[in-house]
Amino acid sequence: MQDPAGEVRFVSNKFKSLRGRHAVTLREDFGGTGIFSLAWARSRRERTAHSVDLDGETQAWGAAHRVGNAPAQVRERVRFERANVLDGVGGPVDVAVAFNFSYWIFKTRAELRRYFEVVHRSLGPDGVLFLDAFGGLDVPQIDENRVEHEDFTYVWRQRDYDVLSHDFECAISFEFDDGSEINPAFTYSWRLWSLVEIRELLEEAGFSKVNLFWERNDAEGEGTGRFYLPKRAENEHVWWTYIAAER
Ligand SMILES: C[S@@+](CC[C@H](N)C(=O)[O-])C[C@H]1O[C@@H](n2cnc3c(N)ncnc32)[C@H](O)[C@@H]1O
Repeated sequence: MQDPAGEVRFVSNKFKSLRGRHAVTLREDFGGTGIFSLAWARSRRERTAHSVDLDGETQAWGAAHRVGNAPAQVRERVRFERANVLDGVGGPVDVAVAFNFSYWIFKTRAELRRYFEVVHRSLGPDGVLFLDAFGGLDVPQIDENRVEHEDFTYVWRQRDYDVLSHDFECAISFEFDDGSEINPAFTYSWRLWSLVEIRELLEEAGFSKVNLFWERNDAEGEGTGRFYLPKRAENEHVWWTYIAAER
């Protein structure tokens, strides 16, 4: 996640426009180090965040190094819980988020629908689930994408893609100027889900309305940070979108 404060702004604005009030309570599924939760608690004084992940070590690192550095009145509104997102812990909340495509670890329709059903039950009466998704012409294939930064190169690798199952293996590596590297730094074993499948499973799980927010591009084809609800969308080399599923 590049810009947690920007993502919180997006979620806040869209919740407000869908529901006509400010969202207060959040659960971050697959929360890892809890950076979205922290940005949420920072964004308004009354907001609380509950970050759920299976990996206690990652959570402990986030609690010590990220949340631990925030002022007490922010820190005390962020709670980590080591749990499976399928256990349906906590709630009811205004907003649930599952970002960074983490829900793609569920590789069958039955598993993903079950996860969506658990989230649906954990939301308040006007709660909203926010997800992200990506795809496009360059995605269902083996590919590599390098982004140079000042001190390191970020490398995104699509290491394997199976047409029959949509099993999709990806990894992030970092390469440094002295020739050293962390390869891989993170690996992902996903099913590449289409937007149609995600929408259908959300509806089957009971969500009343599924909104797809597409980013408006500028003349150079760069994202503007402004989103709209398209009636249809052209395929692109890579597209990326937010989904807001209303309970
Ligand atoms: C890609 S990371 C997300 C990191 C987080 N969004 C962040 O930006 O720091 C995926 C996370 O999902 C967690 N995870 C995987 N399966 C899970 C499950 N069934 N329940 C809860 N957490 C799970 C992993 O432990 C991992 O921390």
